[in-house]
Amino acid sequence: MKEMTARLGLDKLEEYSVETVPDADIVVNANESNWNLPKEVLTQILEETKKFLFNRYPPLDTGKLGRALGNDLHVEQEQIIIGNGSSELLEKACFAFGGMGSKIAFPYPSFSMYGVYVQMADSIGAPYTLTQDGYIDPEAVIDFCQRENPSLLIVCNPNNPTGNFNSLENIEKILAGVSCPVIMDEAYMEFAQEPDTGNKISTMSLLEKYTNFLCLRTFSKAYGLAGLRVGYGTGSTELIRIMQKVLLPYHVNSYSLMVALKTYEHKKLFADRVQLIRRQRNKMQGKLESLGFNVFDSETNFLFFLPSADLAFKLSRYAIKKGYKLLGSNENMAGSLVFQELLAEKILVRNFSNHPALPGGIRLTIGTEDENIKIAATLAAICQRAGE
Ligand SMILES: Cc1ncc(COP(=O)(O)O)c(C=O)c1O
Repeated sequence: MKEMTARLGLDKLEEYSVETVPDADIVVNANESNWNLPKEVLTQILEETKKFLFNRYPPLDTGKLGRALGNDLHVEQEQIIIGNGSSELLEKACFAFGGMGSKIAFPYPSFSMYGVYVQMADSIGAPYTLTQDGYIDPEAVIDFCQRENPSLLIVCNPNNPTGNFNSLENIEKILAGVSCPVIMDEAYMEFAQEPDTGNKISTMSLLEKYTNFLCLRTFSKAYGLAGLRVGYGTGSTELIRIMQKVLLPYHVNSYSLMVALKTYEHKKLFADRVQLIRRQRNKMQGKLESLGFNVFDSETNFLFFLPSADLAFKLSRYAIKKGYKLLGSNENMAGSLVFQELLAEKILVRNFSNHPALPGGIRLTIGTEDENIKIAATLAAICQRAGE
């Protein structure tokens, strides 16, 4: 058989892969919810399942879920789009607004899939850097867009993997200052509160004022539905109409739509969980800092931390003493050591230790209280062993 060649432009694209450890006891590497659905929601899903029309295609419009979201968010149903996770909507936005020869601007360091979707759409990636402590500098982004002239700008707020939340004021400056469409990725916004006022502030409140952006949300994080793949976007009808051109008919399956609707109808239960996660996150941040890690500000369900120079030195010496075969700087070695020692205790976190912009970094999803206690104790034991 002739050697198979992929489409020009796809040849350099790596397939998505992430460490999976089937027998890990504590899985905190993907920012999922560590709670399954509440009993009340499960009971209703089972009732709906008994009479579910598996033989029918899903609605061509966004159906009951779209209507529920529209009512709640005070937008027309035509201003809503639903996808297979927000991932599908991100990918399709790159198809719809990018394309051969067009530039797509996205943050760095941020969600690694942006660069992949840009490549899949045959577009040119134009990464703009965040500040050293993980924030967006709105003036710098506006200047960047004036210079690079992208056909699409992606903003991630709060940012993954660092967790930083950027104020609505700063986000609005960007919307007002750029001329291209903007994707506002708010996958973690349900966890965010304005630090000073405690207000929950999303770009969705700007939908009446600006028509140049699509705000993306997901049921995968705060609503614990990562397995069903449902995300949604809100924007102007014009923008949504363009997005619809690149979506397959019936692309979101009707069972997922039904489960997402039942879940959304019990929003209050999830809001309580969010508050619990926020309290646990603050506690964990304190623990990490007391061990000598530098922790990024987070308004999400995860924390990103790096060893301080002193701790990186101790951990890397300990790694060498223990015979770990690790490469790179003290920070790289320290992060890899922490990752591997946690794994030895069957705790799976996300390893960013060799990330060029975040050397030594570890991202940790906030789990249940028992899980968090075990993780904090294991990290303390690692640091103690390194200090001996
Ligand atoms: C910033 C960000 N955007 C989008 C997504 C995609 O989420 P989903 O496709 O599950 O909705 C993720 C998932 O981790 C994410 O971190």
